[in-house]
Amino acid sequence: MIIINVTITITLTITIMNIITISDMMNINVLRLDHRSKRDARITTHVCLTARAFGASKIYLSGEEDEKLMKNLEDVVDRWGGSFEIQYKKSYMNLIEEWQNNGGEVIHLTMYGSQVQDVIGNIRDSSKDKLIVVGGSRVPTKVYKKSNWNVSITTQPHSEVSSLAIFQHMLMDGKELDLKFDDAVFEVIPTAEGKKVNIHDQ
Ligand SMILES: C[S@@+](CC[C@H](N)C(=O)[O-])C[C@H]1O[C@@H](n2cnc3c(N)ncnc32)[C@H](O)[C@@H]1O
Repeated sequence: MIIINVTITITLTITIMNIITISDMMNINVLRLDHRSKRDARITTHVCLTARAFGASKIYLSGEEDEKLMKNLEDVVDRWGGSFEIQYKKSYMNLIEEWQNNGGEVIHLTMYGSQVQDVIGNIRDSSKDKLIVVGGSRVPTKVYKKSNWNVSITTQPHSEVSSLAIFQHMLMDGKELDLKFDDAVFEVIPTAEGKKVNIHDQ
C-alpha cells in the first residue's frame, strides 16, 4: 500500500513539474509572408496551427488579407485554449524593423541558410524575443539581408509547415511537448487506445 502511494505521489509530482505555459517561455512570434487567399488557405492555416501548438504566442499574416481564415483560427483558439494571437500585417518589413529596434531577433527559414544543427545552440542561448519568418512562393532579397539568421532545415526543398515545426521543436529543445493551453474547452487526455477528450464548461 505504502509503495503504491509513493509511486502515485512521484508520478503526480513529475507530471506537475512538466507542465509549462507560454508565459514560462521566451517570446516567439511567427511571420508568414505572401499569403494568397485562394491558393494558400490550407497551408497558411497549418502554419498558424503549427506556430500555436509548438509554442509561439502570435502569428502575423502578410500578403492578401483573409478574414475568413483568421476567424477560423480564432475559433480554434477559443476551443483549444491559450492566448495565441493572429494579426494581419500589410507591410511586413516595418514589422521586421520594429522587432529588431525593440531588441528582438529575426530568424528567416530558407533552404539556402545556415544549417539548423550548426546554429540552433547560439540562437537558443540568446534570451532575445524571436520572430520566425516563413516564406511563400518567392521571398525578396531584403528579407535575407535584414534577418539576423537565415536558417535551413536540411538543404532540400520542403514546406513552411515542416520547417517551422522542426525549427520550433529545436528552439524549444522539446519543451513544447509539455505545453499546457489555459482555459481550453476541449482537452485531449492522451491514451494508447481510443480517444479521450475532457470537455470543460465555458
Ligand atoms: C514553397 S517553399 C519555397 C522554397 C524557397 N525556394 C526557399 O527559399 O526555401 C516556402 C517556404 O518554406 C520554407 N522552407 C522550405 N524548405 C525549407 C528548408 N529546407 N529549410 C528551411 N525552410 C524551408 C521557407 O520558409 C520557404 O520560404
